[in-house]
Amino acid sequence: MTTEFTDWVRAHRARIEDWLAVHLPGQDLLPGRLHEAMRYSVLGGGKRMRPLLAYAAGELAGATAAQVDVVAGAVELIHAYSLVHDDMPCMDNDVLRRGRPTCHVQFGEATALLVGDSLQSLAFELLAGTLVCDDARDQLRLLRLLGEASGAQGMAGGQAFDLASVQSALTLPELESMHQRKTGALIRAAILLGAGCGKGVDATTHAALDHFAKAAGLAFQVIDDVLDAEADTATLGKTAGKDAADGKPTYVSLLGLRDARSLAQELYSGALAALEPLGNSAGRLRALAAFIVERRH
Ligand code: IPE
Ligand code: IPE
Ligand code: MG
Ligand code: MG
Ligand code: MG
Repeated sequence: MTTEFTDWVRAHRARIEDWLAVHLPGQDLLPGRLHEAMRYSVLGGGKRMRPLLAYAAGELAGATAAQVDVVAGAVELIHAYSLVHDDMPCMDNDVLRRGRPTCHVQFGEATALLVGDSLQSLAFELLAGTLVCDDARDQLRLLRLLGEASGAQGMAGGQAFDLASVQSALTLPELESMHQRKTGALIRAAILLGAGCGKGVDATTHAALDHFAKAAGLAFQVIDDVLDAEADTATLGKTAGKDAADGKPTYVSLLGLRDARSLAQELYSGALAALEPLGNSAGRLRALAAFIVERRH
């Protein structure tokens, strides 16, 4: 990783952190406990991978950083909501997230449920409330894309497959479809929403980004599965070894660690190949794809 890239990552993480802090309701506003729990669940942790992908894709559209803030923030709010619900006792029943007690452990289950509901609504409220496309009509497509990526055909649907698949042996195509929905869909949305800001991108660039996004999104969850089996709780900031303990079908349970890692490498190569038509302009996306497969947590 070059210093230019690490500086860019640091600056854009700080940027989205500030944007989220400003746009989340304050704890001094009623209902204070709900707002406190929303802020607890979103701020002060997380790799901010989806916002970074949105900013990198937004550069290809010539969008301003202020335009991309809104889509990056909306996707991160949906992601944070998905984590709060994913950790609840009725789902993965996890007690640790980003190195701290999970939302329901800290604030109770009812509040955690409402945190997820409220973060999801806030994401759409903010994306509907600020013009991020040069042509306002294009923004309707972005709102629809975020809805599709989050809902029953996207993240929430993938989570339904995940829960229904405990202790069952999925085929590789079934596992891929589940991972594409539960994790890939929102990562794809981050990239396409970023690229949809400003004047947007041409059809060739859009197709290249879509192809890239599918490979990078799947690679992200393959590595999440690998790290669950390979890394320790302190490094992950979430309970290690949880997938095997819960009987979740993962790339590790299906292929083993070594082949899961090689699949991630293949997906990485595919992601880079997809970016070839974009030449040098896609340098940051290439670096982010490398980060996805090389990360330690
Ligand atoms: C974890 O996502 C859950 C998945 C969708 C795989 P991240 O690994 O992006 O979690 P944070 O945001 O960095 O904590
Ligand atoms: C979660 O997948 C995907 C989401 C939509 C949140 P996991 O259940 O594997 O995520 P972690 O490992 O708890 O972060
Ligand atoms: Mg889960
Ligand atoms: Mg989980
Ligand atoms: Mg996991």
